[in-house]
Amino acid sequence: MSIRRLPPELINRIAAGEVVERPASALKEVVENSLDAGATQVAVRLSAGGLEFIEVVDDGSGMNPDEMRLALERHATSKLPDDAIDRVMSFGFRGEALPSIASVSRLTLESRVRGADGWRIAVDHGQLVEEGPAALPPGTRLRVEGLFDKVPARRKFLRSPRAEYAACLDAVRRLAMARNDVGFTLDHDGRRILTLQAAEPPTRVAELLSHALERHAIGIDCARDGLRLTGVISLPTFNRGMADQQYLFVNSRPVKDRLLVGALRAAYRDLIARDRHPIAALFVEVPLEEVDVNVHPAKTEVRFRDPAAVRGLIVGGLRHALNEDSQRSAAREQAAAPVMWTTSESYEPEPLIGSGISVVREEQREFEPVTFVPQARAEPAIEPVPSYPLGVARGQVAATYIVAEAEDGLVIVDQHAAHERLVLERMRALREDGRVARQALLIPEVIELEESDCDRLEAAADELAAMGLDLERFGPTAMLVRAVPAVLGRTDIGGLLADLAAEIAGLGGPLSLRDKLDHVAATIACHGSVRAGRVLSVAEMNALLREMEVTPRSGQCNHGRPTWVKLAHADIERLFGRK
Ligand SMILES: Nc1ncnc2c1ncn2[C@@H]1O[C@H](COP(=O)(O)OP(=O)(O)OP(=O)(O)O)[C@@H](O)[C@H]1O
Ligand SMILES: [Mg+2]
Repeated sequence: MSIRRLPPELINRIAAGEVVERPASALKEVVENSLDAGATQVAVRLSAGGLEFIEVVDDGSGMNPDEMRLALERHATSKLPDDAIDRVMSFGFRGEALPSIASVSRLTLESRVRGADGWRIAVDHGQLVEEGPAALPPGTRLRVEGLFDKVPARRKFLRSPRAEYAACLDAVRRLAMARNDVGFTLDHDGRRILTLQAAEPPTRVAELLSHALERHAIGIDCARDGLRLTGVISLPTFNRGMADQQYLFVNSRPVKDRLLVGALRAAYRDLIARDRHPIAALFVEVPLEEVDVNVHPAKTEVRFRDPAAVRGLIVGGLRHALNEDSQRSAAREQAAAPVMWTTSESYEPEPLIGSGISVVREEQREFEPVTFVPQARAEPAIEPVPSYPLGVARGQVAATYIVAEAEDGLVIVDQHAAHERLVLERMRALREDGRVARQALLIPEVIELEESDCDRLEAAADELAAMGLDLERFGPTAMLVRAVPAVLGRTDIGGLLADLAAEIAGLGGPLSLRDKLDHVAATIACHGSVRAGRVLSVAEMNALLREMEVTPRSGQCNHGRPTWVKLAHADIERLFGRK
């Protein structure tokens, strides 16, 4: 066996395999360099999804000829002046993007420092082919042609120009969201796709994702324990069939992290159907020592020192914002509705915060329209309607809403929201009487969790026991569950524990123990509730209505939204022009 040092060209090719997977990843690196160079304007031009060429022009600092030569050498970077890899503020720091791209393409680098002349260097698959003066405004122009043309192993894995273009667009979107203070243009095959001027973050996000978002989004701004979260999320009614418009930025760096997916799911848990997805662009600011950015060659992943705290911040912040905003949004939508849907207050023990249902508006068409298909039908409405305030169940719509006929109108109930509330109130009543029923598990269940989550659950073990959840520590990264609250019935214990840990992590701040218990109880209640999408029998529907009538606060769900709405007879008549 003979060990040899690899030649630099081969080293670059190997690095290119990690850093440059496809045109979009090369484009990302080049635009990041422009942003690191202090550009205020970045112009991107692509041909055939970047397969033919990628060109990026910026008005940043530029480089002199010596710097340009160095920039094309491996491990040459201007971004780590004091070797502090743990305090990186720039996008780049590895000093390998340009040499990697240059080793698998024909690359032309032109640059000019303010007050000096421009220079050009052309490299063909790692070999210098041309060098000389160039005429250009201050800044840098970089052109990459024929990416992977001579690397069949890579070429094979490239997709159609269309798919590569989509990936390039996504890369530009992420960076344009990360840097709303910079202007961008994007041209593809000679067509202008994007023109973005410096704008406030919500405007930038709406320009990039959907203009309708400006009317259907909630702004987020919260902070806890040195972490800050800002950004925009869509109202639950403004959702998509795919989770493709969910963006996370950590200290302005676009990252792909599964944490976001889970946190969004938890935050929207009862607000959105399981197969629907919100739109989100969230910006987390974390002290530099809390996050490691050097975990992935393409720098698209980060490692948090305490991922549960970040998840807790997102879940807590989003839930809070969604609660606050659910009424405002509903009321605003309602103003545009042809008739007023009202929630009756006649027997409510507490005044309702608000009422109304949201209406599917025209601009939501670009997203998938919500379709209602009748799923269950009760007996024909011939028997007299007994005078129950919430009426008699007549059917179920979209396996999610119960339609009931009351003496004075038509009632629609959100089955999950309503049931969740009932479970919560039941738990609360029992807790107050000190009679929480627990159901011992025949075989205790071991649930694996992150260590910090286990710490949180262990610290709350007494409170959880008071609610019927008996658990104890089982090694560093697991909990042993011996009993669950009886109201839960059969439940996914692992999911419950993960949600509870996130809930506890999100409950920092000056909340009283009682408030905390309520939050935790709400999380438990959600796990024990009838899901949206479950087909109910008529008897089940009526049982739910009767229980709602005798339960305090049942008119609003645990998130403050109405659990039911009523359309009075007079309103129905108005709808048909009879009045
Ligand atoms: N558009 C640009 N304007 C000014 N300087 C640039 C530009 N692009 C690259 N450079 C210079 O070239 C150097 C090398 O760039 P390269 O992308 O290879 O490495 P990096 O950005 O330092 O680190 P990374 O590999 O993590 O991206 C940079 O450190 C920077 O000094
Ligand atoms: Mg770079």
